[in-house]
Amino acid sequence: MPRQLLLATRNDGKVREIRELIGVAKGAEILSAADFPEIPEPFEDGATFMDNARSKALCYAEQSGLLSLADDSGLIVDALGGRPGVMSARYAPTSAERNNKLLVELEGIRDNERTARFVCAMALARPGRIAATAEGVLEGTIERESRGSHGFGYDPVFHVAELGCALAEAPAAIKNTISHRAKALQAMLPLLLRELGITP
Ligand code: IMP
Repeated sequence: MPRQLLLATRNDGKVREIRELIGVAKGAEILSAADFPEIPEPFEDGATFMDNARSKALCYAEQSGLLSLADDSGLIVDALGGRPGVMSARYAPTSAERNNKLLVELEGIRDNERTARFVCAMALARPGRIAATAEGVLEGTIERESRGSHGFGYDPVFHVAELGCALAEAPAAIKNTISHRAKALQAMLPLLLRELGITP
């Protein structure tokens, strides 16, 4: 029986990124939620990123019968008491409006109080049980205006000190080495390979 892994997402960017990272999983067939259109996308109403990742992974594993990997991510802003957090995708209707709303909410906030972080929680599930979890974090600060055109979401307003620029000013290849998603995936990789029965 082929070794199969289902990525519980319809986001092409995430599928590509994860496929590249687990390219070492030789012989494993990597499927995505797009291969299972009959599985309804679960509503993300958990209190934490990990709650959402766990329930998404369990839902896809249960309905497909396959080992399933799910993630949930978002932006935590300290000056906003952790908002937008798990509501990051729903903070405002469009990406531009979300970034604008964030800049307006932070007007008058001093540089040293503009700290924020991207968080990515990942969960790996078999039908009925969680097999492994991992988390990745990227620290930064909120810019005073949008910068750059790479990436997506909050990247134009997220300043990364180690890059000396906004995340949207860095090419994808750079972002993918330091991102919260890359870090979560790196942490998950040995557990994932073990679960697939692959020796790295
Ligand atoms: P989800 O993990 O697809 O549910 O993403 C939640 C939301 O968090 C996205 O819609 C973005 O607004 C934001 N987000 C997550 N990761 C990133 C990132 O790498 N850059 C910018 N925004 C992100």
